[in-house]
Amino acid sequence: MLAALQNRDDAQSAPFVADEIETSRLRLRMFAPEDLDDLCVIASDPEVMRFIGRGLPFTREETLLNLTSIINAFRRRGFGRWALVRKETGALTGYCGFSFGSEEVGVELAYMLSRGEWGQGLATEAARACLRYGFERLGLSSIAALTRPENFRSRGVMERLGMTYVRAGHHFGYSCVCYSIARGDWQPDGSVYRVIR
Ligand SMILES: CC(C)(COP(=O)(O)OP(=O)(O)OC[C@H]1O[C@@H](n2cnc3c(N)ncnc32)[C@H](O)[C@@H]1OP(=O)(O)O)[C@@H](O)C(=O)NCCC(=O)NCCS
Repeated sequence: MLAALQNRDDAQSAPFVADEIETSRLRLRMFAPEDLDDLCVIASDPEVMRFIGRGLPFTREETLLNLTSIINAFRRRGFGRWALVRKETGALTGYCGFSFGSEEVGVELAYMLSRGEWGQGLATEAARACLRYGFERLGLSSIAALTRPENFRSRGVMERLGMTYVRAGHHFGYSCVCYSIARGDWQPDGSVYRVIR
């Protein structure tokens, strides 16, 4: 797994083309600076941010920092957290993809949806595609996901994906539960999944 990531990091000077992914209802594409206004709307909602970081809505400045870090990480590695765009409307609905918190945890699945988009299976749809991309394209051997113990919606996504509870612990000072899925325990289902290069 680490070798796959290392190779990506070593290839920084190669021409960069971001893969996009299409699912039934979503397009997963790289974020752009122009997404700032839409991301600000999502990240300024206290309900969305309740279990993220300090549990407070992001200011515009914090969202800008977050967006910049997502874009830079994506450029550096060639993948990361994709912007989720509704195919029907083109609206930005959140993000889903990978982040890299610590060596101990490894590659983490991360997702966030605007409040109005909860309850439709969109996070699970996007995350399923990300798992497939992670295992098939990136050659990851396992993928983790962390959340606050009381974030039951997030735990629901992990469970729908077939991830298994590993342990409770602390991550960057916050209590959390850790789930994981290994390559050998995963198989693609019949959902719409198309990688666009
Ligand atoms: C975590 C989060 C992405 C989960 O969103 P979600 O909409 O609950 O998750 P899913 O997309 O899997 O949707 C599941 C729900 O959609 C329903 N659903 C409707 N149509 C569906 C479909 N076609 N497929 C699957 N589920 C469907 C399910 O029954 C379930 O309903 P329920 O909420 O009544 O149980 C969302 O709560 C969020 O953005 N939270 C804030 C950010 C956050 O905490 N992120 C995690 C940080 S670790």
